[in-house]
Amino acid sequence: KALLSTRRFGHAIHYVESVDSTQWLAHQGVRSGAKEGALFLADEQTQGRGRMGRKWHSPPRSGIWMSLLLQPQIPLNLAPQLTLMASVGVTRAIRRETGLPVTIKWPNDLLIDGKKVCGILTELRGEQDQIHYVVLGIGMNVNTPAASFPEDLKTIATSLAAESGRTYRRAKLIAAILEELEHVYDLYLTEGFEPIRHSWESFACMLGQSVTAHTPQGPRQGIARGLHASGALLLETDEGVVVPVYSADIRQV
Ligand code: BTN
Repeated sequence: KALLSTRRFGHAIHYVESVDSTQWLAHQGVRSGAKEGALFLADEQTQGRGRMGRKWHSPPRSGIWMSLLLQPQIPLNLAPQLTLMASVGVTRAIRRETGLPVTIKWPNDLLIDGKKVCGILTELRGEQDQIHYVVLGIGMNVNTPAASFPEDLKTIATSLAAESGRTYRRAKLIAAILEELEHVYDLYLTEGFEPIRHSWESFACMLGQSVTAHTPQGPRQGIARGLHASGALLLETDEGVVVPVYSADIRQV
């Protein structure tokens, strides 16, 4: 707490040693009156959740497993912008604290040297077309030794320590994440998505390159051109047409 210079984010902290998922803690927290900026934090998750129903490996004390409660007054259809906004804030925080060259893979995977170091999961509840609240889940591999990742993750995952040979104080990183998130969030609420879109593009790792987008409708090949205000990735096809991709796994070709 002494490390924090935010106005709202992280002033209420709900910490537990071990939990199935901090996302669940946050949803519970809302039911008991938690407010915007409340932080839910655990040293270990036994059922960490990732995007698209995947599991998130969250061993004790080696990473940051946290969920932040947001209550923006924005329509439900703008929710994807919040995830992209979060990836910009967290990228800034890691760069600032470690100097490591973190980039963003659409929509919001944080990579170092092509390997994933951090993932973001947003879950929201709304009524009609208004957001009631958003739980912003952030999972960051901080001091995980490269050799201790499970076999299936070894080639695709990394940690800040594995990339730099240093270890990091998680509390200091969390403070930096909260500061940068509060900053981009305030910017988003006052100026809208455009400045965030620009920052996102400046951190993106595949723009101008040939990629395959594995969409639910099948693969699509093209050159990644940028980010649309809807949050979609703009893909220029072989015919020279730019199309938005709303849901896909992106791989470089
Ligand atoms: C992804 O890249 O698939 C998103 C991973 C999000 C993991 C974090 S860890 C804290 C929070 N609690 C969870 O169960 N998941 C998110």
